Amino acid sequence: MPRKSAKKPKAPASVEFPNGEKIRILITRERIQKRIAEMGQQIRAEFPGEPLHLVGVLKGAVFFLSDLARSIPGDVSFDMIAVSSYGKNSQSSGQVKLTRDLDSSIENRTIIVVEDILDTGLTLRYLLRIFEQRKPKQMRVAVLLDKPERRVAPVQAHYVGFKIPNEFVVGFGLDYAERYRNLPDVAVLTLPDNHAIRH
Ligand code: IMP
Repeated sequence: MPRKSAKKPKAPASVEFPNGEKIRILITRERIQKRIAEMGQQIRAEFPGEPLHLVGVLKGAVFFLSDLARSIPGDVSFDMIAVSSYGKNSQSSGQVKLTRDLDSSIENRTIIVVEDILDTGLTLRYLLRIFEQRKPKQMRVAVLLDKPERRVAPVQAHYVGFKIPNEFVVGFGLDYAERYRNLPDVAVLTLPDNHAIRH
């Protein structure tokens, strides 16, 4: 008799936690992995033979950076930078501050800035200005998620994993008050009594 194929456990489509917060899966882990693999191939195809230096923005981009780095064949290095962002309650002050700088120079290197989500664009506008001053050879931007409806600064990414609607999402590195980063999927978060998450 043919053996039943072992099925991978599937995450439930939506979950409510004891504190009343709810998550609803928007992008499954399988779709994320497939898309990152495609992005890695696309990036390498555009820069054949070129050493690529990935610059990840902590902490949200940590899983995207690690998966993207492994999906680009050939000569790849990476570094991390950190900026202060939404703080504990997901409210954006619109102000960005560098809290951890890069370890190595980006001068005359081809860099790919790797960010979790492009939302208002204020963070990336700030970072791209800093990086420009450091005179990289070429610079590109890769984001896992793009929320075009929320854009304030006219920033565009060269590589976009998924365009998403204007909803607050968590998982795959993205947090709400530092929680939910470890979810392997990207999910929409709603608060108890449908309180809005202002961001
Ligand atoms: P921006 O400066 O408004 O483009 O936002 C960039 C940062 O805001 C991202 O790196 C995230 O840390 C955070 N952010 C924006 N939208 C969301 C969201 O839907 N969920 C979690 N964090 C978000």
